[in-house]
Amino acid sequence: MAIEIIPVPDLGGADKVDVIEVCVEPGQVIEAEQSLVVLESDKASMEIPSPKGGKVVSLKVKEGDALSEGDAILELEIDGDDAEATSESEAKTEEKPTEAEQETVAEEPAEAADSGASSEQLVPVPDLGGSDSVECIEVCVAVGDEVGEGDSLVVLESDKASMEIPSPSAGKVLEIKLKEGDKVSEGDALVLLEVAGASASSETKKEPQATAPAAGEASETPQKAPEPKSQPAAKESLPAAQTQSADEVTGGASVYAGPSVRKLARQLGVDLNKLKPSGPRGRFTNDDVRSYVKQVLEDVGSGRVSSGSGIPAIPEVDFAQFGDIEMVKMSKIAKLTRDNMCRSWLNVPHVTQFDDADITELEDFRKSMKAEAEKRGVKLTPLPFLLKAAAAALEAEPSFNVSLHADGEHVVKKNYIHIGVAVDTPMGLMVPVIRDVDKKGLWELAAESAELAAKARAGKLMPRDMQGGCFTISSLGSIGGNGFTPIVNAPEVAIMGVSKAQVKPVWNGSEFVPRNMLPLSVSYDHRAINGADCGRFFTYMVSVLSDIRKLLL
Ligand code: COA
Repeated sequence: MAIEIIPVPDLGGADKVDVIEVCVEPGQVIEAEQSLVVLESDKASMEIPSPKGGKVVSLKVKEGDALSEGDAILELEIDGDDAEATSESEAKTEEKPTEAEQETVAEEPAEAADSGASSEQLVPVPDLGGSDSVECIEVCVAVGDEVGEGDSLVVLESDKASMEIPSPSAGKVLEIKLKEGDKVSEGDALVLLEVAGASASSETKKEPQATAPAAGEASETPQKAPEPKSQPAAKESLPAAQTQSADEVTGGASVYAGPSVRKLARQLGVDLNKLKPSGPRGRFTNDDVRSYVKQVLEDVGSGRVSSGSGIPAIPEVDFAQFGDIEMVKMSKIAKLTRDNMCRSWLNVPHVTQFDDADITELEDFRKSMKAEAEKRGVKLTPLPFLLKAAAAALEAEPSFNVSLHADGEHVVKKNYIHIGVAVDTPMGLMVPVIRDVDKKGLWELAAESAELAAKARAGKLMPRDMQGGCFTISSLGSIGGNGFTPIVNAPEVAIMGVSKAQVKPVWNGSEFVPRNMLPLSVSYDHRAINGADCGRFFTYMVSVLSDIRKLLL
């Protein structure tokens, strides 16, 4: 029984590679070759297998860490047999090229560089970590392309991994030696590059990092082809085809995409399932991810969808094909209403309740006050009564006089009663707010609402006139309709819709009698208010409107 630290093997030169999944946990008994972690660079995703079986004592990494060769992954308790096997395999892995060999290799490119002239470089398939006859699923370059060092040349895919093969040098693509669907193995020719000046080298150009064999591998000739920088010279059991832990974001194994595409998608928070692939055989490309993000940003800018909602935009239609059209510029207020309504509708879980208030007596009283109103120079409409009744209901049912706090943990209870009134203006809908409605009388409210409505129609409202509302009244009573479902004016949590009062036959217990009935609706934010709260609020408000003497209580 021995405790060993299992380190990150040779990553083919890649450094600081992200841990995207930890596949084991402390206490777990694992077998040799079982995946410990999944690492992902911008060029490859790879599962790191355990070199031996045993029991995981402790983890040394977590998701999001960046690892390099030699970093500890975990502590493993191994039994006697495995411990011996390990020392043998360690002995093998130590058969690394001598320093002298490495130095020789490192010096070779320098000679070429000294020449300063451009030369041709045949880029071969690098070490594929033991895989053989791997399919080329994408050729990323065309003849004549200028490529930079590290740019992807082709994408190869085995049953265990997909890997982008980077160019070992900057240069111009002279010839492409394979096509999609070809099967290639280590050493097969990929592309012929014209490499200029300092970076010029021959086919046998080596990168020092490519000369060291991978952990667990037997010693190999240091003269082998350059290895892709971030592709692990690990084994076949490495990249078990893409990233599992990033599935929620990058679409999972059902999505056909290479590591760099998945990484880009993960970085940008793009769910690949929502995209249409444009690559060969339904493969996603980096451009698919970028175009998607661009489209979403454009949609958000144009107000067609809310940010990150994932709601598909309404398709653009060329209406001119159906007849004569005119393009009319939206006013600033119309655009604000568009955005505010869209935001409220998408954020607030709405419920709307309906009721009718018997305003027969209210109307009798209001009409009886007409002469007095004229004397005072105000018009007494049903609106001031609705304001007073709403204020009374907000007092009686304080769960309506709140806003949800942005921290998601609190509601803000308001000890004041300011009510907004939706006003239809030529520029669009505006909602001036009447302050301290509970403290004002009907005449004052009639004067103030008329004044604010006039200011709104004249475009003279100041931002302050439209702030601080606790509740909104939207009255279409002068226009018509039996009822409607108003949208909550967030961050308020409720709104009342007023439709047109009509005389209707109402059963009084013994006969039908004509009563003036006012159809009302209340929409509320179900995150803050429950149906029973609304039932109480609404019933109380309707009772006040039906008997305005209650306002005196
Ligand atoms: N039922 C029947 N008649 C009604 C009524 C109702 N619910 N509400 C108002 N009326 C009557 C008024 O009594 C008045 O009649 P009168 O002159 O015979 O007394 C007439 O309709 C016009 O009233 P109005 O001048 O519009 O005043 P108001 O105080 O009722 O309304 C506003 C003021 C600002 C609310 C209103 O002018 C307005 O702009 N409404 C539109 C709001 C809107 O667009 N909401 C939709 C948001 S999506």
